[in-house]
Amino acid sequence: MPDLSKITCIEDLRAMARRRVPRMFYDYADSGSYTEGTYRANAADFQRIGLRQRVAVNLENRSTRTTMVGQDVAMPVAIAPTGLTGMQHADGEILGARAARDFGIPFTLSTMSICSLEDIAEHTGRHPFWFQLYVMRDRDFIERLIDRARAANCSALQLTLDLQILGQRHKDVKNGLSAPPRPTLRNLINLATKPRWCLGMLGTQRRSFGNIIGHAKGVGDLSALSAWTAEQFDPRLNWGDVEWIRKRWGGKLILKGIMDAEDARLAANTGADALIVSNHGGRQLDGAPSSIAALPEIAAAVGKDIEVWMDGGIRSGQDVLKARALGARGTLIGRSFLYGLGAFGEAGVTRALQIIHKELDITMAFCGQTDIERVDASILLPGSHPGAPRNAFVDSFRA
Ligand code: GLV
Repeated sequence: MPDLSKITCIEDLRAMARRRVPRMFYDYADSGSYTEGTYRANAADFQRIGLRQRVAVNLENRSTRTTMVGQDVAMPVAIAPTGLTGMQHADGEILGARAARDFGIPFTLSTMSICSLEDIAEHTGRHPFWFQLYVMRDRDFIERLIDRARAANCSALQLTLDLQILGQRHKDVKNGLSAPPRPTLRNLINLATKPRWCLGMLGTQRRSFGNIIGHAKGVGDLSALSAWTAEQFDPRLNWGDVEWIRKRWGGKLILKGIMDAEDARLAANTGADALIVSNHGGRQLDGAPSSIAALPEIAAAVGKDIEVWMDGGIRSGQDVLKARALGARGTLIGRSFLYGLGAFGEAGVTRALQIIHKELDITMAFCGQTDIERVDASILLPGSHPGAPRNAFVDSFRA
């Protein structure tokens, strides 16, 4: 086990991941679409929200435990589905799922993962995890994928609604993103500087899209992610399909990618268990508000009809606390998880979770709170958060 005691924040993990992960995959994780304005706003907007310091409160016996869709969690954080995770580190999804299991939070496997549903089930002792679904044109494949998720002991399905077409990430185009990387001179030179990554990859068979290769009709080689997306992701996806998937799945359903109060009402009407306020980490509609800016209006629009969660920009426990204060029962971390994974494998993911948990606990205490269940907007500095109508809040970030 590496000594990670000097790794004190997510930024430390990011810097190490940048050194250890081949450029093409590091860039894939670390970019947003087009100008990356929304990507940057996700993290920057958290910084603008202030906290109220309270003192002389008994801070013994603190708890960050809560539930997400009725499942107990050690803190209101789940690992977000991220594509190509097994390219950040060999067997990345298995390592992430184990770290999450041992920490007591949910892990979400992406449709576009390298390790398959069956790999995760086998290597985590069939501990329940979540599966994220993209809807493709080949509906037979989708039905089988849903059935495979059930058989793998998945305890919730996340249906992503914001990626039927792909927002362009300039670096991916320039890097010629593919899994595994093509052996071009440029790639080979870059790989030569990443010996740990190469060694890990030589030690595993899992080097391409495990949920798809050999399962989807006519798909043998799937190197180009963007070409596959353009061809296969179904642009016709609509609320009727959500109903079809809800019935076919029959378990806990989470709708991911809601950024508008009207869509939030439609999501609540489907009978789904949770929605995720998400702009896909700033990777889809560049120009959308940050997730934290969009959260309060959505939380107000749906009330208690559906659980509201958020993702986008969470790099610390403080961010988790602020999201909770503004109405998110749960949060998801994508990049904070990937940086830990790319930097140190499973130990790095565990370190990322420890960092976030500790900061959440300490910040909650400084705000005079001992129980995450009781945290609300009263812990926030008035005027620094969207108590005002959403547009005024959004505008203030654009000023
Ligand atoms: C896929 O989910 C991506 O954002 O690339």
